[in-house]
Amino acid sequence: MTSPTIESILQEKRTFAPPAEFAENARIKSMAEYRELYDRAAADPAAFWGELAEKELHWFEKWDKTLEWEPPVAKWFVGGKINLSYNCLDRHLTTWRKNKAALIWEGEPGDSRTLTYAQLHREVCQMANVLKQLGVKKGDVVGIYMPMIPEAAIAMLACARIGAPHSVVFGGFSAEALRDRLNDANAKLVITADGGFRKDAIVSLKIQVDKALENNAASSVDNVLVVERTKEKIHMEPGRDHWWHDLQQGASADCPAEEMDSEDMLFILYTSGSTGKPKGVVHTTAGYNLYTHVTTQWTFDLQETDVYWCTADVGWITGHSYIVYGPLSNGATSLMYEGAPRPSKPDAIWEIVEKYGVTIFYTAPTAIRAFIKAGEHLPKSRNLSSLRLLGTVGEPINPEAWMWYHKVIGGERCPIIDTWWQTETGGFMLTPLPGATATKPGSATHPFPGILADVVDLEGNSVEDNQGGYLVIKHPWPSMMRTVYGDFDRFRRSYWEHISPKDGQYFYFAGDGARRDEDGYFWVMGRVDDVINVAGHRLGTMEIESALVSHPAVAEAAVVGKPDEVKGQNVVAFVTLESDYTASDALEKELKQHVVDEIGAIARPGEIRFSDDLPKTRSGKIMRRLLRNLASGEEISGDTSTLQDRSVLDKLRGGA
Ligand code: PRX
Repeated sequence: MTSPTIESILQEKRTFAPPAEFAENARIKSMAEYRELYDRAAADPAAFWGELAEKELHWFEKWDKTLEWEPPVAKWFVGGKINLSYNCLDRHLTTWRKNKAALIWEGEPGDSRTLTYAQLHREVCQMANVLKQLGVKKGDVVGIYMPMIPEAAIAMLACARIGAPHSVVFGGFSAEALRDRLNDANAKLVITADGGFRKDAIVSLKIQVDKALENNAASSVDNVLVVERTKEKIHMEPGRDHWWHDLQQGASADCPAEEMDSEDMLFILYTSGSTGKPKGVVHTTAGYNLYTHVTTQWTFDLQETDVYWCTADVGWITGHSYIVYGPLSNGATSLMYEGAPRPSKPDAIWEIVEKYGVTIFYTAPTAIRAFIKAGEHLPKSRNLSSLRLLGTVGEPINPEAWMWYHKVIGGERCPIIDTWWQTETGGFMLTPLPGATATKPGSATHPFPGILADVVDLEGNSVEDNQGGYLVIKHPWPSMMRTVYGDFDRFRRSYWEHISPKDGQYFYFAGDGARRDEDGYFWVMGRVDDVINVAGHRLGTMEIESALVSHPAVAEAAVVGKPDEVKGQNVVAFVTLESDYTASDALEKELKQHVVDEIGAIARPGEIRFSDDLPKTRSGKIMRRLLRNLASGEEISGDTSTLQDRSVLDKLRGGA
């Protein structure tokens, strides 16, 4: 198997039409229907979304104005009153869905739980009341640092119910990373668990929370609400820490949903950029609700009887939009799994598909490549015939992995949706519609109706077919991020100025290169900035460099991505040491652990290369392009005339 090379994508010519039977029963059945929707939306996006908002969502009060656009500030459904938790729960309770499974949860040790819409509503109301009792008010930010258990979704919905924006921090992040995020968001309370089960081990989350809050280092946090999961012994700080099961007992299940303004902040989610510390991406209520609702319905071709499973973690945007909010707003059954495939149970995933009769399965290319490695005998020994639709997200999928997914998991009968989007976009931007779009392995195909996507040069001119360029969106959409929390200027600089606005046309650009082929299909080529994508996780090279230089031994560090067969990319760090330190295996190990402590295991460098110097331009800028070549074992490509000291390259090559 080859890694996802651009070459393999460039040579890809196969096309897969939607299976006739699928198309016949689909919500959107043909390209003609897609084009009709696309053209109507493009002609008047506000009218298109306004119509859907009226039809698909519950409003306490209708909006006055569908879109206010003063670039780069968009306001959708201005003056409307709405609540996302109401749309995900209450409105289903007056229908037969009241007793339909909302969440099916499978724990890693094999325990499981199903919550109907009525049961989920009850627990959400109770937690919302507990939050209020602990002093959380509308507008207060709540940190959520949880394993993949139902209470993670309950916590998010409880926050949405009372208008407290949540900031979910992935449970794999370290105490340091958690503390930075809690401080940046000024969080008042943290919801966590004693721990979670992952790969046959316990992840001790509460210990990390204790470390993050040590010495009052996140002073805005007054209370910690702790869900019991692993039952390991933990410290409970008197006055600060509270067991959820204790408070739940006395909590009323009556908690009317707060009437929120459309543009009230719904959540903050931190993500890595090419510069500085992670950015708090801000999403607001109504537009996010509508866009995740409609994209879930059309892209997954959601039917009432589907058992839908997205394998992401709620710590990422995929978990927010497509485990919790999009599916529940549609009244779907969403499956949550606590763990990951592990050596002791390599076919855990396929066992779950069989056990619950999963019909829609949505995962990341890195997982698919790991499944390939584990062997096709595993899925083949399970009955996967319930599956009708497959999806992928997070990084470009190499055609080889796409074909394996299509044949071995999909039995050649399931369409595959390759969805391109970002934390910032809130929902799918480029994606096939499975009953309409003929797919090409490795292509995210076409924009969702209402999304005006293009591939442009730095001046904002559309590039020719099959020319590489910057992937941009040229009109606001309901679930676009509104700002970087606490730093509007950074929002403007990061997303709206890379390609200069011209003649009133603004270009949203968030870091990906792409090309469009002669049939109008988009092919996302990956990041063109200093962001790398390791196993579907987005990491800023600068964040890892900052972590490394915070170690006393490190004078300077440069981090690049190196192609990896399974993870897509791996972290390679070039490090120069302070003069009183010498390179050794022990130091390499220590530095890797240091990055884990500072950020989390997802950022652990695969390789550290010690060197006396780094290749720099005459003005002192590290030439990462050359380091990328070196890390990948490639020939040095492109211009090296600006290099200050050519001998550095030879030395690095010698050491490689
Ligand atoms: O580079 C693109 C890649 O993931 C980045 C967004 O990462 P994040 O905000 O963490 O969200 C991940 C889940 C939406 C993008 O800038 N990416 C995401 N989906 C795809 C992709 N690259 C290629 N094809 C995709 N389908």
